[in-house]
Amino acid sequence: MTFESAAFPIRPLTGDDLPLLMELEAAAWAPPLRASEATISHRLMLGHTMFGAIDEDVLAGTLCFTETSQDPLVRSDFPQDFEAYSSLPRSEPVNALYAYNLCVRPSHRGTNTAIRLLREMEHHGRRLGARWLIGDGRCSSYAGSSAADDDKVRADPRFRATIDRWNETGMRPPLREIIRDPLLRLHYRVYECEFLYVMPDFFPQDASSGGFRVISAKDLKT
Ligand SMILES: CC(C)(COP(=O)(O)OP(=O)(O)OC[C@H]1O[C@@H](n2cnc3c(N)ncnc32)[C@H](O)[C@@H]1OP(=O)(O)O)[C@@H](O)C(=O)NCCC(=O)NCCS
Repeated sequence: MTFESAAFPIRPLTGDDLPLLMELEAAAWAPPLRASEATISHRLMLGHTMFGAIDEDVLAGTLCFTETSQDPLVRSDFPQDFEAYSSLPRSEPVNALYAYNLCVRPSHRGTNTAIRLLREMEHHGRRLGARWLIGDGRCSSYAGSSAADDDKVRADPRFRATIDRWNETGMRPPLREIIRDPLLRLHYRVYECEFLYVMPDFFPQDASSGGFRVISAKDLKT
């Protein structure tokens, strides 16, 4: 079956959708990167929004975020790791949407679903009057995908050297070097975002990314 012209409807998910979410976690993420049912329930209790693209009785993809009053430009206040980032309670007034867990089921990749989920979050942020859309950009080309996932991202030694240098010197590299990575390029293509920080040990279990995340920021007021 092909999904080339599919536009799976997107809606916010609730606790009733936990079985669908758990099934997508297992389909889309290698075991060390999966969230447990307790973790996902907790995030919903914290007021996080989870958008799901629905293909009949399965999820084609998801994107999760929390609405926060935090100012992402204050580096010292920015969550130090994924655990902290993905467990911030919703807070007001909403200044930023902190997004995580963009994923598309392997069988549904290449269908524009990721881009539609990112666009839906942008509409949501604009409706709320938020200033920033923030993403914890996974950068799998740092070390390349493992055999345990379906990502098929190749290691890029030049990108790895860029990230290591950024981390060591604190000096942001040129945009063209950052968007050598496919996921960071996707963020840039959709949002024309900037890249604020390189975060070491943000997700240590994510060997493909060397534990790093690159924080992207879209200013909705420009
Ligand atoms: C990243 C992901 C959501 C992209 O969805 P997709 O349906 O595969 O994307 P598309 O085929 O529509 O491609 C769109 C862009 O996504 C990026 N991309 C594609 N596959 C990717 C992958 N496996 N990993 C990272 N980025 C990828 C590329 O920039 C691509 O554009 P390009 O072909 O011009 O280079 C999907 O591959 C996925 O769920 N991967 C596993 C989870 C993950 O790493 N999520 C990111 C968390 S920050």
